[in-house]
This record gives sequence, C-alpha cells and structure tokens, in this order.
Amino acid sequence: MTDKTATTTEATDTDTAGTDTAGADTVGIDEARNDAAGADAAGAETATGTGEAGPGDGAVGGDDVLVTVEDLKVHFPIKRGIVLERTAGYVYAVDGVDLTIRRGETYGLVGESGCGKTTLGRGLLRLVEPTGGRIVFDDTDVSTLKGETLRKSRRRMQMIFQDPLSSLDPRQSVESILVEGMRAHGLDSGKEATRARLVELLDSVGLPESALHKYPHEFSGGQRQRIGIARALAVEPDLIVADEPVSALDVSVQAQVLNLLEELQQRLGLTYLVIAHDLAVVRHISDRIGVMYLGSLVEEASSDEMYAEPMHPYTKALLSAVPVPDPTVEDEREQILLTGDLPSPANPPTGCRFHTRCPWKQDTLCDTNRPELRDVGGGHRVACHYAEDILAGRISRHEVEPELVHPDA
Ligand SMILES: Nc1ncnc2c1ncn2[C@@H]1O[C@H](COP(=O)(O)OP(=O)(O)O)[C@@H](O)[C@H]1O
Ligand code: SF4
Ligand SMILES: [Mg+2]
Repeated sequence: MTDKTATTTEATDTDTAGTDTAGADTVGIDEARNDAAGADAAGAETATGTGEAGPGDGAVGGDDVLVTVEDLKVHFPIKRGIVLERTAGYVYAVDGVDLTIRRGETYGLVGESGCGKTTLGRGLLRLVEPTGGRIVFDDTDVSTLKGETLRKSRRRMQMIFQDPLSSLDPRQSVESILVEGMRAHGLDSGKEATRARLVELLDSVGLPESALHKYPHEFSGGQRQRIGIARALAVEPDLIVADEPVSALDVSVQAQVLNLLEELQQRLGLTYLVIAHDLAVVRHISDRIGVMYLGSLVEEASSDEMYAEPMHPYTKALLSAVPVPDPTVEDEREQILLTGDLPSPANPPTGCRFHTRCPWKQDTLCDTNRPELRDVGGGHRVACHYAEDILAGRISRHEVEPELVHPDA
C-alpha cells in the first residue's frame, strides 16, 4: 500500500454495536475459520511475515512475486431434478483468470456484485476447489496440494471476511478464537508465551487485553473486524485476502480499519488481495488494481494509471460513477451509464462478455471473439479488441439497446 490513505488513525472505533448489516457473503465461513480441524504439534513452522518492506515509496512492489494465478477456473455445477439429480449446466463464477501478486503489495480486485471476486479469493486459498488452472504460492504449486500439506500451507494465506459477526463464532471468547488457529498450526508454545502473544496481537489491532474474555457480540462492528484481523495475524501469514473488509462497516469506521490494515502491512511485510465492489475503497489502499467482469479480468493497471487513464469500457463506466471532489472536473467528465443487468454467469455472452452492455461495441469481433487480457504497455493489461482505438478517439460511444437476459442456460 502506498500512503495515499486517509483521514484518521485513531485506534478506537466510534461506531456502536450492531449497526452493521448482515448482507455479507456468508458462504463457507465455517470452512475458513482458520481451518482449525485438529491440532498439529509437528507443524511448528516459525516463519514470520517476509520482513520485506511494502512499497511505501510508491513503487509497485518490485518484481518479487508471491502469488501467481494461471488460467484459474471455478465452475459450480447447477443441479436439476429431485429423484434423478443431473447437472443442467454450470455457473462460470471464475473463468480463466491470470494474475500475479508481488510480495508486499496490495492488489485491489473490483467489480460489481456477482462477478466472481469472492470465488476467486476463495479459489486462491483453496477454500473452494478450482475446476482448472494453477496457483503458485511462493514457488510452490498449491493447486495440487492435498490433506496435511494443504492444511499447513493455509497458515501462510489467511482471509478476512466482509461480515465479522457471521465469520466469528458467537460461542467462542476472543481468546479461544485467537488460540484456535495458533494451536492448529503449533504456534501456541506454553501458557505464558501464548498469553503474551495474544496481548501483543490485540495491541497490534488496537484492542485492550480485557477483550480476551469477551464474546463477539460485545463489540462494535469495527472492533469485530479488528478481531477478525487479529485472528488472521495469529498464524503469521504472508498473504491476506480481505474480502470486502469494510463494506459492512459504518462509513466513519471504514477509514480506521483501512488505516490499520495499511499500518500492519508496513510493519509486518504483509501482502494483500483486497476485494471490494466499491472503487473508492480500493483506490486508496491499492498499488495495483484488477477489474473483474463475469468471471474474468478485463483490465489491470497500477492504481494511479487505472484512475488516470482507464482503457476498458467497463472500467470507464465504473469510474465514471465515482464522484470526483473537484467540481470543475466533475462537471466536465464523461458520465457513462450502463444499461442492462449483469448477464448470468451460467449463460455468459459470446465473444467479449461485455458486448451486451458496451457503448463502444463494434460489428466485428466483439460478439464473436473473446478478447485476451493483453499488455498495452508498461504492464497495463486490457481485454478489449478496440482499446487503442477507443483511447485515441478513433471510435466513439453509442447508445446501447438493453438486451433481455435469460436467467440461465
Ligand atoms: N457455492 C456456490 N454454488 C453455486 N454458485 C455459486 C457459489 N458461490 C458463488 N456462486 C455464484 O458465482 C457467481 C460469483 O459469485 P461471487 O464470487 O460471490 O461474486 P462476488 O463476490 O463478485 O459478488 C455468482 O453468480 C454466485 O451466485
Ligand atoms: S471488445 Fe468490443 S464489446 Fe468488448 S469492451 Fe471492447 S469494444 Fe466493448
Ligand atoms: Mg463477494
């Protein structure tokens, strides 16, 4: 993360308990609860964060790659029939994603709800089984790991969820929540040392020692997210996938939690994949941004470049919806309203998946050939046949007739 954030650094949240909404992705939270099934005394890995500083100078993390995702696919079968169950089709939630995340950087992943962000994050951590593709984490191919080796590798990759209330077990005290993961990975060495570690963990997320004996419902939304962060940190991960980490929080608390993440990254050398549907959230904390549409990336660039010169029509539309504080700029800039709903990922459009809503759609290629995510210079990648023509103004925008979208195949 570069130091583009934010307004406040106080450690205490000002929100009140129970204000957050529960509109969260609650899929498979249990699975992800620090995969604490069974203690493993042998797994006493002592690795810490990589210790490498984040790209605080504004550079984008160097070329030291921590995660490589190659052609990742996660397809969910659609089952029909009661007596004889059959697979009637697939939801192509993630359908061919290539990306790399460099050590110490924050990669922001954005796109509208349902485009596959959570599934990508979960696939990367093997919390959902990929249908195809490869995931290489710190030179190890984790896509083929199984059983105990997979479980151990999870220590280095942790997830923070959108809704801390549903991702924290209400029957467990904070102490038990934090110790669970440490124990599962053999990191709870002795009572004294563990206690000291717990206090240190709480302190690092701005919570007092007295929090240890409390239960999740006794905290405010922001404080609960701090507990979720402490739980992830407890096992000393290298990578944290933060799935909409502030979406369920009051606006006043969002910046505090984002600042905390940033501060922890700098101190511990963490690498982040931050998922958000809100471009404003991602902008402030990301070094690089990937924009997703219907299961794949349509554009990727450094945060500054993405905002200065978005090239994909979908990114242009997303950005045009974000208000700009400068009234002159606000008045002059192009507003692009997208017509039509996001098509179903069970029945994605042919060719360019955005062609049903694209105001620059052309008569050739767009509805027949799926554009590759290609480098248009300086690491800026775009999946559009006409990116350069649009940028140079050689083709212009037109009205889009909304198409009727069938719910599924
Ligand atoms: N376990 C699942 N089974 C079937 N479909 C799923 C499952 N999880 C997600 N989906 C579908 O996959 C698509 C992508 O979902 P998701 O990754 O949650 O998107 P996002 O996080 O961007 O909102 C959606 O259409 C969603 O309904
Ligand atoms: S390939 Fe065609 S439909 Fe797709 S974004 Fe580019 S111009 Fe639009
Ligand atoms: Mg999601």
